[in-house]
Amino acid sequence: MIELKRINKYYKTGKNMFQALKDVSLTIDDGEFVSIMGQSGAGKSTLMHIIGTLDDFDSGSYMLDGELVNTMKDKKKSLLRSSKIGFVMQDFALINHETVLYNVMLPMYFSNVKYSEMKKIAIDKIMHVGLGDQVTKKVNQLSGGQKQRVAIARALVAGASMILADEPTGQLDSNTGKEIMELLKTLNEEDGITVILVTHDLSISEYSRRRIVLSDGKIVSDEKLEK
Ligand SMILES: Nc1ncnc2c1ncn2[C@@H]1O[C@H](COP(=O)(O)OP(=O)(O)O)[C@@H](O)[C@H]1O
Ligand SMILES: [Mg+2]
Repeated sequence: MIELKRINKYYKTGKNMFQALKDVSLTIDDGEFVSIMGQSGAGKSTLMHIIGTLDDFDSGSYMLDGELVNTMKDKKKSLLRSSKIGFVMQDFALINHETVLYNVMLPMYFSNVKYSEMKKIAIDKIMHVGLGDQVTKKVNQLSGGQKQRVAIARALVAGASMILADEPTGQLDSNTGKEIMELLKTLNEEDGITVILVTHDLSISEYSRRRIVLSDGKIVSDEKLEK
């Protein structure tokens, strides 16, 4: 469970201070499927980076699964992140000249897991996202939709219970985007993975069960979507 209380975040550029998040309070339960919308510059990515423990904030508190993130040491934070949170980005963030298998195994290379076991887990996740026939292909030989599936398999491989997806369909045509959303929906409904998704596309947000709108660093609406 994610509990943000009165989070404020400033960016300092030279002498200027810019407030990117203003008193943001937000609770997200395990198993939710939430979309975050808002205009460019509204603070969506900033909020995602804070939820993902990638970025610090200036005031407020963040409890993740009952643990206070504020005071957590970086090492603890990165352990927590790699075991709980999977990131999916608009530009896929894959190593293009390496294979699907290599990319999906990557988050496990620094664990104590044996190579044969890592490979087994990775192949299982690759099959789970529908790419069982692409395991040894290089990423640069895949379509955009297939690349995003690889990124989702990589997000799941360390056992993440939460996927943070920042504009995951932003570089995909609308049909491929819908397929990726169907996959995220299945992971949410069947595997209980919490999905938090940033999008500026209303039809993409319809896949979620709760829609939050940010404007100018503030939450201006937070509604349950009828299904
Ligand atoms: N590293 C940074 N340094 C300075 N300003 C930043 C930085 N990152 C984001 N901002 C500013 O904070 C605001 C929110 O950015 P962001 O969270 O990326 O918005 P969104 O994802 O909604 O487009 C924007 O005005 C942006 O210019
Ligand atoms: Mg953004």
